Amino acid sequence: MQIGNISIWPNIVLAPMAGITSHPFRVLCKRHGRVGLVITELISSQAIHYKNSKTYGMFDWTDEERPVFCQLFGADPAVMAEAARVVVGHGANGVDINMGCWVPKVAKTGAGAALLKDLCQAEAVVEAVVKAVPDVPVTVKVRSGWDSADETAPRFARAAAEIGARAVTVHARFASQGFTGTADWSVIARVREAVDGRIPVIGNGDVETPQDARRMLAETGCDGVMIGRAAMGNPWLLSQIGLFLETGVLSPEPTIFERLQVARDHARLQCEVQGEAIACRELRGLLGHYFKNFHGASYIRSALTGVKTLADIEKILDEGAEYAMKRPQEESDPEETILRDTHTSPVNA
Ligand SMILES: Cc1cc2nc3c(=O)[nH]c(=O)nc-3n(C[C@H](O)[C@H](O)[C@H](O)COP(=O)(O)O)c2cc1C
Repeated sequence: MQIGNISIWPNIVLAPMAGITSHPFRVLCKRHGRVGLVITELISSQAIHYKNSKTYGMFDWTDEERPVFCQLFGADPAVMAEAARVVVGHGANGVDINMGCWVPKVAKTGAGAALLKDLCQAEAVVEAVVKAVPDVPVTVKVRSGWDSADETAPRFARAAAEIGARAVTVHARFASQGFTGTADWSVIARVREAVDGRIPVIGNGDVETPQDARRMLAETGCDGVMIGRAAMGNPWLLSQIGLFLETGVLSPEPTIFERLQVARDHARLQCEVQGEAIACRELRGLLGHYFKNFHGASYIRSALTGVKTLADIEKILDEGAEYAMKRPQEESDPEETILRDTHTSPVNA
């Protein structure tokens, strides 16, 4: 897949996810195989305009992640243009415009998916950003429309392509649905038809497995697939999908030991980037995603909810590894009793 002057291979994209796709997770996805493109979580153009130091801290991408696009949200064309220049000045390889976020904090300002209710404004935003950063590709991520009364994605995508957007991603749900129901991929095919091959269309919504990705490509004719929730705690997934699409080979699921190691890497990276106190608060929820569907998983998840330091986390992960090593000989033990009995961390006392 070609987005402007950038070749994206494989055609698998890590979705922008607030609170999830910061530098540590983007890097982990890259380290565990081939990922075509990663996108930052949404960043406020207004906050960039007011030079908010926390927001500037979100320009945390490194060369290891490239190509990396920075996602911006905002409804004011001039402010969005200024923010685009800033993030490209900080080395983003492209700018993605958020027109999918429906949460009131964003939508009530006219930004995010609310722009799909005012296509003139939406087009003005795209035009301003395209003009502001002529040397990098500008892409747009949309929902099917604001609500089912008007499926705006196809006609907006056509307009965006004419104005100079270099790709469009479609999360195949209406904004009014939030995350409810199932994604209706047929809108992706209609967007594909509307842009008529002028720009790539990236399909998004409910892709959880390599087979899902293949089915989305076949059913909609989209050029690439974006993966969100299914990648949480599973940074292997994007490259598993890439490999499957290329070769038909399904790579084995990571072992519990690999999961524990990657959770540890994630914790260390997050502490390096954010400092231990803030990182540990976020890691309580984030690391839980690595531990699902095996004996001891729910215990590890609940133990992680109380962690305050990296040492707390490492202790729980060490105990998880010990448990996993013992487990084959101790099949008859009730789930999780070994961990519960041996765990002595003060955070769980
Ligand atoms: C926790 C979370 C945070 C998200 N944050 C963003 C965001 O910052 N920008 C955006 O465009 N979409 C965001 N999304 C939507 C995802 O990018 C994606 O469109 C959606 O999850 C559907 O894809 P999936 O079914 O593969 O998860 C977020 C989704 C989740 C679950």
